[in-house]
Amino acid sequence: MVLKVLMAITGLIMIGFLLVHMYGNLKAFLGPEEFNHYAHWLKSDILYPLIPEGWFIWIFRFFMLAAIGLHIYSAATLWRRARIANPTPYEAKKTLAQTYAARTMRWGGLILVGFLVFHLLQFTMQRTLVAGTSGMEPYDLVVAEFSVWWMVLAYGLWLVTVCMHIRHGFWSAFTTLGANTSAKARTVLNGCAWVVAILLYIGFMIMPVAVLTGVLH
Ligand code: HEM
Repeated sequence: MVLKVLMAITGLIMIGFLLVHMYGNLKAFLGPEEFNHYAHWLKSDILYPLIPEGWFIWIFRFFMLAAIGLHIYSAATLWRRARIANPTPYEAKKTLAQTYAARTMRWGGLILVGFLVFHLLQFTMQRTLVAGTSGMEPYDLVVAEFSVWWMVLAYGLWLVTVCMHIRHGFWSAFTTLGANTSAKARTVLNGCAWVVAILLYIGFMIMPVAVLTGVLH
């Protein structure tokens, strides 16, 4: 139970991060200056002078890494326990009618993390750029990278994995935390899970698609 709660809370923290990240990306529609100002602000004076300039991003990164680490640790431990308790996968399948998203949480989670590593190498470390060059202003970098059609396609596919994971994870997290108590609660929870997943998909993809179609340049 402790591990399930840990997985639920760390998962919800990450969903919170994604909603903020998505909102931040939409600032690209306000123009290069607004977007670059926002991107630089993230790394400079948040909470200054409460903490020294530039510290916030590192505290935040440490916090996110801990959340990701604990999420994967609890998932792996629960998986191992379930396998020991129920060694034949057929038996497990027979007992539960699961959705596609529920059955693909583990593989989906791995693909999600795999592409996340690429994403960080691309935009944060600027090591795997396909059209941009390291040191470009954030707006120019994003526009350069998403002017390549297959990059937009790759992100489109990755986000399907991310949002499916979130759709099921959101539902599971609130179930673990005790919100799934009646048929009505289940319907509301299911609706909210879909809304968050679809909102994130559209909110994230709208900017790369706008670049590819020349709306943002
Ligand atoms: C179309 C979708 C996305 C776009 C266009 C995008 C864009 C960006 C950009 C430009 C940065 C670099 C910020 C900077 O260093 O100035 C960034 C950082 C990051 N992104 Fe994304 N992102 C997307 C989706 C995602 C998703 C789905 C995840 C997580 C599953 C994610 C996780 C992160 C993380 C963890 C960082 C690093 C923050 C840091 O510097 O510590 N992003 N993203």
